[in-house]
Amino acid sequence: MTDASAPPLALRLRNLSKTFSGVHALEHVDFEVRAGEVHCLAGENGCGKSTLIKVVTGVHAPDPGAEIEIFGARQSAITPTHARAMGIAVIWQDLALFPHMSVAENIAFDTMVGARPRLVRRRRDRKAAAAVLDRLGERLDLDAPLNTLPIAQRQIVAIARALMGEARLVFMDEPTASLTQSETDGLLAVVRTLSEQGVAVVFVSHRLAEVLDIAERVTVLRDGKLVGVFPTEGMTQARLGELMTGSLLSHEVMAHDRSGEPAVLEVEGLSLAGKVEDVSLTVRRGEVVGLTGLIGAGRTELAHAIIGMMRPDRGTVRLDGKAIAPKNIREAIHAGIAYVSEDRLSLGLIQPQSIEDNTVIAVLDKILDAVGLISPTRKRAMVSEWISELAVKIGHPSDPVSSLSGGNQQRVVLAKWLATEPRLLILDSPTVGVDVGARAGIFRTVRRLAEAGLAILMISDEVTEVVMNADRVLHMAGGRIVGEYDPRTTDVATMEERVYA
Ligand SMILES: Nc1ncnc2c1ncn2[C@@H]1O[C@H](COP(=O)(O)OP(=O)(O)OP(=O)(O)O)[C@@H](O)[C@H]1O
Ligand SMILES: [Mg+2]
Repeated sequence: MTDASAPPLALRLRNLSKTFSGVHALEHVDFEVRAGEVHCLAGENGCGKSTLIKVVTGVHAPDPGAEIEIFGARQSAITPTHARAMGIAVIWQDLALFPHMSVAENIAFDTMVGARPRLVRRRRDRKAAAAVLDRLGERLDLDAPLNTLPIAQRQIVAIARALMGEARLVFMDEPTASLTQSETDGLLAVVRTLSEQGVAVVFVSHRLAEVLDIAERVTVLRDGKLVGVFPTEGMTQARLGELMTGSLLSHEVMAHDRSGEPAVLEVEGLSLAGKVEDVSLTVRRGEVVGLTGLIGAGRTELAHAIIGMMRPDRGTVRLDGKAIAPKNIREAIHAGIAYVSEDRLSLGLIQPQSIEDNTVIAVLDKILDAVGLISPTRKRAMVSEWISELAVKIGHPSDPVSSLSGGNQQRVVLAKWLATEPRLLILDSPTVGVDVGARAGIFRTVRRLAEAGLAILMISDEVTEVVMNADRVLHMAGGRIVGEYDPRTTDVATMEERVYA
């Protein structure tokens, strides 16, 4: 039966399955999006969200037996070109932009095909790009090469590009993962505008508050299967988390007092022109120190100055009481520091290489045999130890890392660094793009590593996350440490007000 008053459907999927060499990424999934609706697709890492999007946009063919209807028209086979022509646009999880092209060229890329004289095309591209940025209420230098922009602005470029042409059904795969709170608010406003204009938006995010805020309905997947479709009205984050994981998640503050332990990291008066101002801090053995603040507060630059990726102008860094001044990441690893960067896609992994090679890349010397060749047995042993410790969901260790879901790639990055057996672990935004269940897993691992004596500096812009998982919390703003909090006596709401002010 059809209800004549119901808005028309932008997308209707029935019995969608997708198998990758034996792995069931999706099994008999039904999914519907109304025109003008904001619909969230939620579920843990590897549950099949990106795969569903790839089927609808013609990247992957579904297994036989699926029914796909787009704007009421039954589709037998979809190609990316065909999907675009129907008004489907995607902002991919990894953005898929061209680092050496300009902002304007990236935005107009899909319309660039065709042999117009370069100058004419350039003028036309700039005009079109400016118009779409205007619609988003954003101002960017159209001629800047993409690789000179911060991640948040690249995101805007990816969105602008997707909105070129007449998009009627837009997929956003974790669009807010690298955005600050205010940038996120800006993006959510854009999503609402699109929805008012009748555009259907399918939104994927691991930030549950945001899901409940923006969507009318949420479809939950677990292990490639449909759990159900739920209205967000009346839904809580806790309930949604339970639907995604199928289990109850505990929320209790973990903090311990480690003030009696010896210092592992001691930073004194560290400054880096215009980025970090006179920062002093200590991380003790077995201690997890949370470092929060807005993106741009200097947290990542502080980490870079500690590990020698940027040379500090002043100040000292001591590790286990010994002054160190690593000139690059290799020297930092040698000194006993591991740094898990926030940007897994450009700094962390070598995409076409296998999961196992990515895991052992930083510790090749540990897996050499007596004659200096890589020992396959030692490599396998080390890889399987970390893969199971971090519960990475993989097919086979020799599969390329690019075959993993985004959140599972993040866990491989962590495995790679833990294999170096560091004294100090610096985690920069370790849960960006990681689902609720896996976040809990990462924090359990962090806790266990701390119990074993590792000193951990954990950077995150989610105040709740650092309060729940650190022993001490430092607040950074404008390059300085402006506050220190004890999670056992700190009220999260008050602290959020201060940090997000
Ligand atoms: N090209 C591929 N080859 C082999 N397996 C794949 C491929 N793409 C995805 N998979 C597998 O399919 C499953 C679903 O992956 P998908 O990327 O859809 O997850 P996701 O829900 O988007 O997760 P995340 O939140 O981590 O991004 C995973 O087990 C993944 O490893
Ligand atoms: Mg994904």
